[in-house]
Amino acid sequence: MKDLHRGQFHLQPETNWMNDPNGPVMLKNGLHMFYQYNPLGAQWGNMSWGHALSKDLVHWKRLEPALLQGESYDKDGVFSGCCVVKDGLPHILYTGVNPQVQCLAVGDALGESFAKYAGNPVIAAPPVEGMADFRDPFAWEENGQTYIVVGGGYKGEGGVAFVYRSHDLKDWEYLGELCRGNDPKNDVWECPNLLHFADGSALLLVSLMDHQAVYAMEGAYEGGKLTPGKPYRHDLGDCYYAPNTIKLADGRYVGFGWLKETVSGRENAGWQGMMSLPREIFKKRDGTIGVRPVKELKKLRLQQLYERKNFTVHSGENPLKGIEGRQLEILVTFEAGADSLYLELLKSPKGEEKAIVTFDGAIGGLYADCSRAGGAAEESGGMTLAGGRNTMHVFVDGSAIEVFLNEQESLSTRAYPLREDACGLRLHASGAVRILSIEVYEMDSAYDLEEDKGAAE
Ligand code: FRU
Repeated sequence: MKDLHRGQFHLQPETNWMNDPNGPVMLKNGLHMFYQYNPLGAQWGNMSWGHALSKDLVHWKRLEPALLQGESYDKDGVFSGCCVVKDGLPHILYTGVNPQVQCLAVGDALGESFAKYAGNPVIAAPPVEGMADFRDPFAWEENGQTYIVVGGGYKGEGGVAFVYRSHDLKDWEYLGELCRGNDPKNDVWECPNLLHFADGSALLLVSLMDHQAVYAMEGAYEGGKLTPGKPYRHDLGDCYYAPNTIKLADGRYVGFGWLKETVSGRENAGWQGMMSLPREIFKKRDGTIGVRPVKELKKLRLQQLYERKNFTVHSGENPLKGIEGRQLEILVTFEAGADSLYLELLKSPKGEEKAIVTFDGAIGGLYADCSRAGGAAEESGGMTLAGGRNTMHVFVDGSAIEVFLNEQESLSTRAYPLREDACGLRLHASGAVRILSIEVYEMDSAYDLEEDKGAAE
């Protein structure tokens, strides 16, 4: 039977479980991307580093796993981490388990194979005694040295990110806390990432283990300390977690997240988890942080299925009738008023199954509801945006739905309709909404080679 729920332009292993994106790094032969992978099954376990290569950020070639568990210091898992280039060679910093320690592995110049450092672990214990969670190093360069943040948490108090510095990636000096949270209910920070912007500010992304959501904090950074502003949701949906970022040579920060399954029982499909599309995280002209799909995604457009400008959509209508697909990009620019705009995806002809993305004009909120497509109910959104012109940028790929609003917000979710004919679209409104333009594209597969497609027929 055809697997309706696999992605075709999202990165995922051919089979089995994946979670966090790990260690994106640019080498001579392209972007190497790794991810938490179970080589033995479709549930979390046997954590290793799955591996893929891209020349352009959007087409992928799958490779053999780069690191497997097995040494005394990583016998229970090769957990998340990062990769930096030093002396022309990729150096992976990852968390070995159990207990959680930081380890090094060095690859050849083309990232074809990696060898674990004989002196592992390079950080053998957390700086605070008794802290069980101590993982997910993320690196950047500062004054000719490598800095890392490592996530952890104070039980019943809040999460924390620790800062270390090294000149050779082997000897690490502990510098103190980058900053810490104060939410007793979210007391472990996983996968901290620190992004540095040209104006001297920095953005900390942390994945809250208990909440299973990613938060962002921006603030002034100096000498291993961040003075963070108010935390806010980095993605408004229910499936985006543990993102990892890379700073490209052109200065762009690009983030990849894990699109988790949102319902249980999905291991029966033989796989779980997808990687999000690459998204640029950037400083907008007004100083706020924006997020948008990378421009390279345009390369995956196969054909335009629909285009229309300057019209009003009323309740009960559907200008998109007859347009179908499970691999789509949809761009809608509209005037926000008091009425709401609804975009239905993966819709069966009579609407028995559908995922609904809503822009609620009254409150300026973005929502998605996949409860009628085997997914989770009414998810998320709820922020206030100024009226006027809004742009919704939507990608659908099998069970993955990613929505970007005004290059400002993102909302990722999953939908699992069962009907083969659940592939239609509908655009409608609660009253009347002025559409300035709408474009729909069919998207290509991200896999160059037939054998990389892994479409379970
Ligand atoms: C986040 C996480 C990380 C850890 C990895 C293990 O999803 O829990 O903190 O390194 O997954 O797979």
